[in-house]
Amino acid sequence: MKLLLLGPPAAGKGTQAEKLVERYRIPTISTGAIFRKAMEQMTPSGKLAKEYIDKGQLVPDDVTIAIVRERLAEDDCKNGYILDGFPRTLPQAQAADDMGIQFDKVILIDVADEEVVRRISGRRQCGECGAVYHIDDNPSEKVSLCDKCGGTLVTRDDDTEETVKIRLEVYHSQTEPLIRFYREKGNLVTVKGQKEVEHTTEMLFQALDK
Ligand code: AP5
Repeated sequence: MKLLLLGPPAAGKGTQAEKLVERYRIPTISTGAIFRKAMEQMTPSGKLAKEYIDKGQLVPDDVTIAIVRERLAEDDCKNGYILDGFPRTLPQAQAADDMGIQFDKVILIDVADEEVVRRISGRRQCGECGAVYHIDDNPSEKVSLCDKCGGTLVTRDDDTEETVKIRLEVYHSQTEPLIRFYREKGNLVTVKGQKEVEHTTEMLFQALDK
């Protein structure tokens, strides 16, 4: 099973990827998470990615494609994977094709821009394990502490009001063309992001079972 999660920033791709991992027992590969780890460890690719991510811009295609190619060669990807956030430009989609990746389904989680801004302003992420919460919609049991590992919840550096506007512009100009690209291939399914995480998961599973 090979799945791609497509959608604007804070559409809930990472949140739903966790549900898909439980269902299909295949790994989720988030380019955003890979870059955040590399930034934290201050590796050369992390330092480079930071220059773009902090401004809301995409990391250059060649760097991103090389990182994904390397990750997909690992053993745990043999039975499939969920890609969260790659491809997100047409050259990346072409590179995925060239790597022989054929997605069983490309899932677009569709969320309006105003809701993106609301979700991002309330998002908190565990600094240790990366688990994602929302202060209103999906709060942790103890304020500022992760339910899963007890780590401290933080706000991502790229979750500022100013950066979100740029990330949305980048999404509309560079990632939205992929909707047509995959619709023409016939494997696109659209799920309207719902107010409740569980409701979105239900719709997602229904779309995958069709
Ligand atoms: P990345 O981490 O992929 O960021 P993104 O695409 O902007 O997506 P997010 O992580 O912000 O959101 P999400 O859709 O996973 O939503 P989440 O589940 O957290 O990438 C970061 C950066 O890295 C990019 O800007 C770029 O610079 C770079 N990058 C990454 N991939 C790249 C690539 N391929 N090429 C080039 N550069 C790349 O949910 C959001 C919030 O909403 C949470 O608080 C959650 O609790 C809440 N929520 C979720 N679902 C619901 C719901 N149904 N109802 C209510 N609240 C909900």
